[in-house]
Amino acid sequence: MTQTQHRSHWTSRWTFILATAGSAIGLGNIWKFPYMTGVNGGSAFVLVFIACIAVVGLPLMMCEIMLGRRAQRNPVDGMAALAKEAGAPMLWRWVGIMGLIAGLLILAFYSVIAGWVLDYVVRAASGAFKGIDGAMAQNQFNAFLAAPLELGLWHSLFIVMTMSVVARGVNSGLEKANNILMPALFAILLVLLGYSLAEGDVARSADFMFTPDFSKVTPVVVLSALGHAFFSLSLGMGAVMVYGSYLQRHVSIARTSLFVALADTAIGLLVGLAIFSLVFANGLEPAAGPGLIFQTLPIAFGKMPGGAFIGTLFFLLVAFAAWTSAISLVEPAISWLTENTRLTRKGAALLIGLTDWLLGIAVLLSFNVWKDVHLLFGLGIFDTLDKLTTNILLPLGGLLMALFAGWVMKTHHVQDELNVSAWPYRLWRFTIRFVSPLAIIAIFLYLFGLVK
Ligand code: PHE
Repeated sequence: MTQTQHRSHWTSRWTFILATAGSAIGLGNIWKFPYMTGVNGGSAFVLVFIACIAVVGLPLMMCEIMLGRRAQRNPVDGMAALAKEAGAPMLWRWVGIMGLIAGLLILAFYSVIAGWVLDYVVRAASGAFKGIDGAMAQNQFNAFLAAPLELGLWHSLFIVMTMSVVARGVNSGLEKANNILMPALFAILLVLLGYSLAEGDVARSADFMFTPDFSKVTPVVVLSALGHAFFSLSLGMGAVMVYGSYLQRHVSIARTSLFVALADTAIGLLVGLAIFSLVFANGLEPAAGPGLIFQTLPIAFGKMPGGAFIGTLFFLLVAFAAWTSAISLVEPAISWLTENTRLTRKGAALLIGLTDWLLGIAVLLSFNVWKDVHLLFGLGIFDTLDKLTTNILLPLGGLLMALFAGWVMKTHHVQDELNVSAWPYRLWRFTIRFVSPLAIIAIFLYLFGLVK
């Protein structure tokens, strides 16, 4: 397929891997995975999540990168171009449109939570955690949630940070931010884990996370685990597709995907182990919900030697991880706007930034003054956006991409683009045609109670 003119590409294979890992690794691993595990009964969630990564996540990551690289366009026009090449209806561009919208909706709450992290950087640095216990950490967090103005300032700062990188474009903006920050994050996680091994209740934490308890596996747990596999790997909304479209032809899609999926899962598990060690050692509630890491980590940082420094560094790196993910959340929309309207990258970033800033204000108010505002299924604003995107839009997007690659595209085009040898290709193709779509459909049906 011909390449659209003037598209930037990543400068090397390693930059692409780091960028994709940068997109995948973020609040999903550090903030969301632990509290979802806590809310959904521990090991039941973790084990189904790992299965979803293996059976659906990894094959779909290869699929999405492949679609992007072949299309060489933003997800909307890319899907249209690929549909045309395969002689299929233009309707497929709706996969791209849906993804673009999902990205905007996710950023609305992502930015608010990233704002919490920014606030905690300052708290850690100012010594606010010194000698803190579980109840105090909880009070501190609740008081913060009740202050919309503060939440709003941090949310605004995060939107400005994200949009200023996005406005600069692929090479100078996205790449530079990723190269140093991801390895640094990994290093500090090891320090945190070391502390938890020494001081926390690791045995109970490991038991909670890994000893199978199938009685806790319910339809909601399964759907949440599937949704989180998509969220955590950034799949189903075109982020990985658009990154793939900036990828040069000689890079191995399979190896990159495997690396990213492993790194992403490993980081979530490491953080989870550390968090639950602290939860159990301090008599806290595993099912505390979205505030979990903000109510547990301060205890550890308040006690460990050099905790103010390590805590500051930790929250700073989490903020960076969130930043590199946020950039990828809006990239589908930005690339679509710049390739289809007269807007420059700067103009597009401004437009999207304003939209998400406004949506984010509604989200942060839902933690205080708009607590009782309910949207879909009686859920509040934050929960509605979170569940709608994570549990419905992303898996649906992924399902459609798998069906498209498995049943609509010409086999030799797919094989040519993936460039793997015969048997791994056959295994992948079988998974993407049957296993992944059926798993997603079965989980949807299971949830809606259509099959028992
Ligand atoms: N994967 C990111 C995280 O774990 C979030 C994300 C979802 C980013 C979807 C892009 C697309 O934080």
